[in-house]
Amino acid sequence: MSNKRTNLNGRDFIVVGGAGYIGSHVCKVISEHGGRPITFDNLSTGHAHAVKWGPFENVDVRHGANLDAAFAKYPEAKIVIHLASSIEVGIGEKHPAEFYDNNVTGALALLNAMRRAEATHVVFSSTCATYGETENMPLLETEPQNPVSTYGKTKLAIEHMIQSFHTAYGLNYVTLRYFNACGADASGDIGEEHDPETHLIPLAITSALGQRGKMKIFGTNYDTPDGTCIRDYIHVSDIALAHIDTIAAFDRGLDTAEVNIGTGIGVSNLEILKTIEKISGRPLPYISAPRRAGDLSKLYADPRKAKITIGFSPKHSDLRNIIQTAWNFHSKAPRN
Ligand SMILES: NC(=O)c1ccc[n+]([C@@H]2O[C@H](COP(=O)([O-])OP(=O)(O)OC[C@H]3O[C@@H](n4cnc5c(N)ncnc54)[C@H](O)[C@@H]3O)[C@@H](O)[C@H]2O)c1
Repeated sequence: MSNKRTNLNGRDFIVVGGAGYIGSHVCKVISEHGGRPITFDNLSTGHAHAVKWGPFENVDVRHGANLDAAFAKYPEAKIVIHLASSIEVGIGEKHPAEFYDNNVTGALALLNAMRRAEATHVVFSSTCATYGETENMPLLETEPQNPVSTYGKTKLAIEHMIQSFHTAYGLNYVTLRYFNACGADASGDIGEEHDPETHLIPLAITSALGQRGKMKIFGTNYDTPDGTCIRDYIHVSDIALAHIDTIAAFDRGLDTAEVNIGTGIGVSNLEILKTIEKISGRPLPYISAPRRAGDLSKLYADPRKAKITIGFSPKHSDLRNIIQTAWNFHSKAPRN
């Protein structure tokens, strides 16, 4: 039996941010399902070597005229997947003007360019960081959205913008609120290459590889079984497949939805470190550091709406597979 979710029949899809970590995996699965991914990216945090499955347009999402010229080359593309964003939470606190400009101004310019190009559907990469502080786990999509960070606030502003564009201009959309993206493509050719890196798994693996100092675990006295924070880790290949399911749902007539993209399973920081030790066969000592402001003790999704609305359920997000694929990617020689 084929593992393919649907046949995209040679159709064009614009992937804004397609040179990044998640975007490159999205491009790969679009290609594997018979579509053509067209990457729009300014390579500010993405990598030219991660664009392998279709044309590349070097455009900044904030520049309307450049977007118009790029859209004009692909008039058949009606669905736009919008992943381009500033994502590093700490930078957002220090430089909110840059964050709002890149994320919110960028999204507005893109949505306006979509209208001019008569693109009809957008898939937006949002985040569990739009929910803010709550103890109601697992998190339902109906949970009030009160983001703590500037990052979360910019993403929520974009969610609202997209909803207004639906009401006023008929734009169809699916907002995917990803939980913690992790792992790497099974080939080992693409994976997580953020700079600066702030995510636990790549930090821990590069620490085990001796490429950085000891890991810091922020908070070891939370009200959780081992005292460390619990998060919902979803394999990047599953996140990518959620986009294929979204396209198929659009094709069936879905017009709008906001859905969590997570596993529903909470995994602690220490469980991650122990699994890396097991898979790598290397010790992974860590330093206990104070809690960080705004970090919740537990954060994991209720994943049922994604299954009902777009037919998505994860199949690559077993913790061992996450760590194994990330380990394979990071153990390879540095990329150029
Ligand atoms: N990584 C996670 O755990 C996670 C979790 C939740 C949500 N998200 C969302 O997923 C999306 C992708 O995240 P990622 O981890 O792949 O990040 P990434 O930094 O690897 O990818 C972002 C891409 O967008 C491009 N980009 C940024 N600003 C641009 C601009 N002005 N014009 C054109 N291109 C621009 C970058 O060059 C990069 O290729 C983001 O929207 C992020 O908010 C990520």
